[in-house]
Amino acid sequence: MRHNHSNLLDKFESYLQANAPSIETVHPTFDIALQTMTKACAKRFRPMLMLSVVQSLNPLLLQNSLAVALAIEIFHTYSLIHDDLPSMDDASFRRGVETLHETYDEATAVLVGDALNTHSFFLIANSSLADHTKIDIIKQLSLDGGISGMIIGQAVDIYFENKTLSIDELKLLHTNKTAKLIASSLKIGAMICELEESATQTLNNIGLDIGLLFQIQDDILDITLDEKKAGKSTNKDEFKNSFVSLMGLDGAIDEADRLADKIISKLDMLEPNLKDGLENLLKGYLHRHHL
Ligand code: IPE
Ligand code: IPE
Ligand code: MG
Ligand code: MG
Ligand code: MG
Repeated sequence: MRHNHSNLLDKFESYLQANAPSIETVHPTFDIALQTMTKACAKRFRPMLMLSVVQSLNPLLLQNSLAVALAIEIFHTYSLIHDDLPSMDDASFRRGVETLHETYDEATAVLVGDALNTHSFFLIANSSLADHTKIDIIKQLSLDGGISGMIIGQAVDIYFENKTLSIDELKLLHTNKTAKLIASSLKIGAMICELEESATQTLNNIGLDIGLLFQIQDDILDITLDEKKAGKSTNKDEFKNSFVSLMGLDGAIDEADRLADKIISKLDMLEPNLKDGLENLLKGYLHRHHL
């Protein structure tokens, strides 16, 4: 089967632009603030992971999966809006635009984040999938995006600014703050298609490696890209635990390359359709530094 991810990305992007959460209100700027960060230019990596699993396993379910893909993307967008707040990473630029607390105020940024968080669960509950699937997806996203994943990761990230962690502790931090939501995206695709348990576990496992690689590469981008190229504020990690701050730039690049090799070999464990679909999607992420 031919996998055409640019078509899938176009399809998702149009769906997102047409269905991004919006609210009619007497408030003069809240609705535009609510839509701006979701609609701004972004990679859509997590929804694409999910949709590429569905496309590989059961393309008939793609249409009904778009709402869940949007839910994952707005959940992730909420995490970025809060990550950029003055009390967190204090960043003024994101997805090629000024952050919401800069354009409006902190209250708006906090509330838009809250809205995208809660609305992601509304979108899942309201989607046209089997009830038992929707419950499983809600449990998965609320754990991996919540206290068992992104939230505890972010709490540790902020608490240990100016305090050094070991490499193993840093890997756990990155696994929580980033990798679990990425693995969740693959797993949610598997849930929608009712993939059997052991293959779902394999996919989750590969997802955690992909997520860790993604955050190591993000740590590298923080030091190697300017704000314009990255589309977001960079040089933010100097006092944080990052792969670059703990291992140096060359060490971080070596670690990323090692992990990419591991992922490439693990992809062989997947059934051919799934393997081809993911390889295609991940092309630009694996061995990015050799390009
Ligand atoms: C940024 O996520 C935060 C990390 C977990 C590294 P992305 O790199 O996916 O950002 P967008 O969604 O493309 O803006
Ligand atoms: C944030 O990691 C991960 C999230 C859970 C939002 P970073 O703080 O490194 O993400 P960027 O570099 O600001 O995108
Ligand atoms: Mg951060
Ligand atoms: Mg940040
Ligand atoms: Mg970063």
